[in-house]
Amino acid sequence: MKKIILNKKPIICLTSYSKFFAEIADEYCDIVLVGDSLGMVYYGDPSTRSVSLNEMIRHGKSVRSGVSKAIMVVDMPYGTYKNPLSAKKNALRIIKETKCDAVKLEGGKEIIHIIKHLIKNKINVMGHIGLLPQKVRSKKDYRIKGKTLSEKNQIINDLKRIQESGVFAIVLEAVKYQTAKEVMKYAKIPIIGIGASDECDGQILVLEDMLGMFKKVPKFVKKYSNLRGYIKKAVKQYSKDIRNKKFPTKKNIYN
Ligand code: KIV
Repeated sequence: MKKIILNKKPIICLTSYSKFFAEIADEYCDIVLVGDSLGMVYYGDPSTRSVSLNEMIRHGKSVRSGVSKAIMVVDMPYGTYKNPLSAKKNALRIIKETKCDAVKLEGGKEIIHIIKHLIKNKINVMGHIGLLPQKVRSKKDYRIKGKTLSEKNQIINDLKRIQESGVFAIVLEAVKYQTAKEVMKYAKIPIIGIGASDECDGQILVLEDMLGMFKKVPKFVKKYSNLRGYIKKAVKQYSKDIRNKKFPTKKNIYN
């Protein structure tokens, strides 16, 4: 696997779970992430923990067919990197089947030995610290990190250890501004923030969140569209047209 070197700033990233969204993201982003947020966003599950390796691979393949320029990263789902050997086996399967450029693992110092094993085997790895969605069982348990001194120290410690292990970038999720600022003082590799302020080297959001697909989104999301509203309007009009015999018209019929 070719080693990834990211030396541009700001680094622009979005998630994607399918070809058609990926094609659009690919035009404007440096990194397209097939996130395991897939479980919550696409399948409507209460957490990301339900996502399987097969599901990540299925969606990864779809995204691959839409990404030609950006770095494509696939999340290793919950339970697939319990030890170095299983992590390597599962990461290689993800890479072989999706042809992604890197995998992402959530966690701090407790997964250093796993990350090191992957990197030793020439697998590109992206880290993920701060709030770790795979540790959260339901939406109500999502809580900002880095509010206390001990949490802040833990995040800084995780950053130092993870970056030493050779990851090419780290996602820093949902941390207090002061903590993010402090973390950035120790960063030697690109830090991609999600709810971690503009101090970071880049930003990532879940595509559906920023498109306005959901009524409720975290404070760190900026809605750039009102997709939910547009879809609702279109579906309403469609149902009205069928009821009023306005669809299909002659234009939509095979003669
Ligand atoms: O799963 C995901 O979409 C992620 C991003 C939120 C960073 O990990």
